[in-house]
Amino acid sequence: MNRFSLFLVSMLTLTAGQRAAGDDAPGAAYFSWQVKNFAIEQPLGGLKGVAKRGMAVASDGHLGNCLACHQLPLSRDEVFGDLGPPLTGIASRQSVGAIRLHVVDQSYFNPETVMPGFHRRPEKLHRVAKAYRGRPFLSAQQIEDVVAWLATLK
Ligand code: HEC
Repeated sequence: MNRFSLFLVSMLTLTAGQRAAGDDAPGAAYFSWQVKNFAIEQPLGGLKGVAKRGMAVASDGHLGNCLACHQLPLSRDEVFGDLGPPLTGIASRQSVGAIRLHVVDQSYFNPETVMPGFHRRPEKLHRVAKAYRGRPFLSAQQIEDVVAWLATLK
């Protein structure tokens, strides 16, 4: 292997490593999205969600922390907040696209909402901690995982 290809290989490994680390960290990349009729029809980044992982994200106090404000159908003995409506049966009341917009940016429905926008447009984020500036709270994959789980709650 000559020096140049060695350099190439190390650059590739470096980028791959960064991408893998960035995926789940709060510093995940922002993926753009389009709203039509109060819904985001296209999965963020074209990613496919995994419901089981979404359940973990929703109940993790450092990630979605949805249960701080919503009652969720979790089997464990959790303590739930009630600032928001229960999410049990959400998929029989709302389309998947609408659920996705609720999770991505609830301020579309209610500009005064207390619910954090988990994948808001970076220009709409104000007063966030430095580490989160220009970064969504949940990665596109985590959003799709949460949406996939909520879509099972009928
Ligand atoms: C700080 C409190 C808070 C947190 C944390 C929160 N929400 Fe909410 N959420 C609300 C409130 C309050 C509403 C009701 C509408 C409004 O006031 O904006 C709401 C509304 C919703 C709705 C629409 C419900 C309906 O019946 O129309 C969905 C879906 C939802 N939230 C999902 C989530 C998910 C998923 C998470 C975690 C990733 C989450 N929320 C975290 C407060 C919160």
